[in-house]
Amino acid sequence: MKILLTGGAGYIGTHTAVALVEAGHDPVIVDDLSNSSEEAVRRVRELTGRQVPFHELDLRQQDALTAILREEGIEAVIHLAGLKAVGESVAQPLRYYGTNLESTLSLLEAMRASGVERIVFSSTATVYGAHATPPFRESDQAGVDVSHPYGKTKFMIEQILADAAAADPALQATVLRYFNPIGAHPSGRIGEDPAQIPNNLAPFVLQVAVGKLPLVRVFGNDYDTPDGTGLRDYLHVMDLAEGHVAALDRLEPGSRVYNLGSGTATSVLELIESFRRASGQPIPYEVVARRPGDDPATFADASLAAQELGWSAKRSIDEACADSWRWQSQNPRGYAS
Ligand code: NAD
Ligand code: WQD
Repeated sequence: MKILLTGGAGYIGTHTAVALVEAGHDPVIVDDLSNSSEEAVRRVRELTGRQVPFHELDLRQQDALTAILREEGIEAVIHLAGLKAVGESVAQPLRYYGTNLESTLSLLEAMRASGVERIVFSSTATVYGAHATPPFRESDQAGVDVSHPYGKTKFMIEQILADAAAADPALQATVLRYFNPIGAHPSGRIGEDPAQIPNNLAPFVLQVAVGKLPLVRVFGNDYDTPDGTGLRDYLHVMDLAEGHVAALDRLEPGSRVYNLGSGTATSVLELIESFRRASGQPIPYEVVARRPGDDPATFADASLAAQELGWSAKRSIDEACADSWRWQSQNPRGYAS
């Protein structure tokens, strides 16, 4: 199928583009490069051996987007484009609501105008909110106590898709709630390339391992968890990418929601240790106060995706750490290397 991949120059998008080609699909990337670079697209072409089409465009440019959908003969959309930094969304809520919601509405209008009925959307485990008890199930109530504008935009978009599918019996919409993606393509040619000092644990640890940052700050070791540090469901980005292919292959009229997680919980200290083994580098850390808003433990019940999509995460944490170390050590300045 000819697939429009919004945000396809970003971290998850580049890996999804590769997975799509491996599965016999033809991705077409649209990205405004606000958090990515054209070099990422060049690397996708190098890895796939295909001249994957790329359009530099803000999704809010609806007429241009509609023209791309028509001219490229798009049959389905994977919608990853958007702003994703939790702290930034608290400081700049209007920018987050504006970009994430307006982009999605523009995309849905462009799809309607060009007769495209299939969409897979990137949501996040954050929508389960602070009250939820892991393992999170798709049937758990979501959206009630999401603490930041970023997560709220994701839940609003989930609702927009459900309402649009209820109104249009031909629309096929699948929402994927990602847990914590880490890792990189095993080639070391594509990976996560944060523009600033990373907020997320894995890219931060990698920058310590490569010597760009002095030490990891562990946000609290007094949680009610086995080693006192936070538990998360980390999954390899190539597993996540393949989850999109599985969702695409099983789209049906209506809207549905799936967790994409490994279903296993890893602590902050365990992840640091795995990166230490993978990199062979010392990874100094110090324990500091908890980060406000952090949950002690979040992990998926991953059974629905296994049953209905035939997808489950296959790669280990150690494999993810080894693959991302390859990316980081071979590209210490990311795509600018
Ligand atoms: P990313 O920032 O690397 O990729 C997003 C891409 O979207 C970027 O290349 C950016 O330039 C592009 N973009 C942003 N606004 C745009 C617009 N208006 N028009 C066109 N392009 C635009 O982020 P990522 O980590 O690859 O995340 C992809 C998606 O997955 C996002 O929607 C994110 O919210 C979601 N997600 C990510 C994580 C994670 O931990 N990385 C977890 C859960 C969900
Ligand atoms: C993981 C663990 C921290 C950094 C966020 C978003 C979520 C999703 C993924 C987009 C926690 C600890 C972290 C550090 C640390 N993104 N930590 N030192 O918070 O689970 O999820 O990213 O959708 O929406 O909320 O991920 O990687 O920031 O934190 O000790 O320097 O690592 O306390 O236990 P999180 P994270």
